[in-house]
Amino acid sequence: MSHNTFGHLFRVTTWGESHGAALGCVIDGCPPRIRFTQGEIQAELDKRRPGQSRFVTQRREPDEVKVLSGFVLDGDGTTMISTGTPISMMIENVDQRSKDYGEIARQYRPGHADYTYHMKYGIRDHRGGGRSSARETAARVAAGALARKLLPEMTVRGALISMGEKQIDRANWDWNFIGDAENPFFTPDRASVPVFADYLDGIRKAGSSVGAVIEIVAEGVPAGLGAPIYAKLDQDIASNLMSINAVKGVEIGNGFEAARITGEQNADEMRMGNDDKPIFLSNNAGGILGGISTGQAIVARFAVKPTSSILTPRQSIDVDGNNVDVMTKGRHDPCVGIRAVPIGEAMVACAIADHYLRHRGQTGRV
Ligand SMILES: Cc1cc2nc3c(=O)[nH]c(=O)nc-3n(C[C@H](O)[C@H](O)[C@H](O)COP(=O)(O)O)c2cc1C
Repeated sequence: MSHNTFGHLFRVTTWGESHGAALGCVIDGCPPRIRFTQGEIQAELDKRRPGQSRFVTQRREPDEVKVLSGFVLDGDGTTMISTGTPISMMIENVDQRSKDYGEIARQYRPGHADYTYHMKYGIRDHRGGGRSSARETAARVAAGALARKLLPEMTVRGALISMGEKQIDRANWDWNFIGDAENPFFTPDRASVPVFADYLDGIRKAGSSVGAVIEIVAEGVPAGLGAPIYAKLDQDIASNLMSINAVKGVEIGNGFEAARITGEQNADEMRMGNDDKPIFLSNNAGGILGGISTGQAIVARFAVKPTSSILTPRQSIDVDGNNVDVMTKGRHDPCVGIRAVPIGEAMVACAIADHYLRHRGQTGRV
């Protein structure tokens, strides 16, 4: 199976299956002399880790990362300094329960990759979906942690802004609340926690699932990253986000809303600031014009579908062409959008880091 790599200069290859011994990534193209610690990478992985609340899958994966290559240790014995050679990272799988998947070995689960995967490759690891399992995204989060290090001025943050039919109140937006111990949803709106909790409890108890929308905001990105046609920054951010399991829609800036408003409303007007730098009076474009970053915040949103594995039986077929009813047991996220937040952050960070290196290579400017 080819196509396990993304990025051009910050090039990430992921490997491994959810029910194999381990999974990981190799980052080819990380510049030399980037300082990072295993703890910083682990902190990002901890955000995505399963089993942290009753609202996510109860798999108990510690997701402990080991950095295997591509660095020398600084004198403090903790800080790693990249050498410019491939950085390999590994995460062991410790909590597989393959028997949960026994019954579906010969059935195609609706909404999953089972049918297409089988049609394409003629062989599949039915336990957890093999390469199409979202467990693979742990490796992307590890790569994203390193990507952030290339642009120390940049912050990439994500928030869950709606779950099913429930939405946050944007007037209550507080980034600081996202890491709060009382916030299992990555919501920036404290008041939405009991609303999401009640709603998702009901969904979970009914054996069902629900989708979500996530917003990613990257600040401190310099103007000039991207290119006007085949390497648009928005194109590559959208591609990276769309590559995440269960993502069915991506928008940049005001996205689909731009099609509903007039040119006057949509134009991001400019004025000269006091420091001789331009200021934009709005950011409908989401920080990207003509495929190139403006220096404003980059804003992307993505829609995640409801988890396909549900306890309510759904009609399907098996590999022998029989009609069957599929009820998916096992431990599943009732709303995969929650754990998709750090994955979205990582994929945006990787796209920006890649463009930062490409910009440097082409213009000699940073
Ligand atoms: C963090 C995360 C966790 C996921 N966990 C599950 C899960 O527990 N059960 C499930 O049916 N799908 C889960 N998915 C979604 C499936 O991996 C995905 O729907 C499936 O591979 C088919 O791909 P597609 O939805 O992109 O077409 C998860 C997705 C993400 C991003």
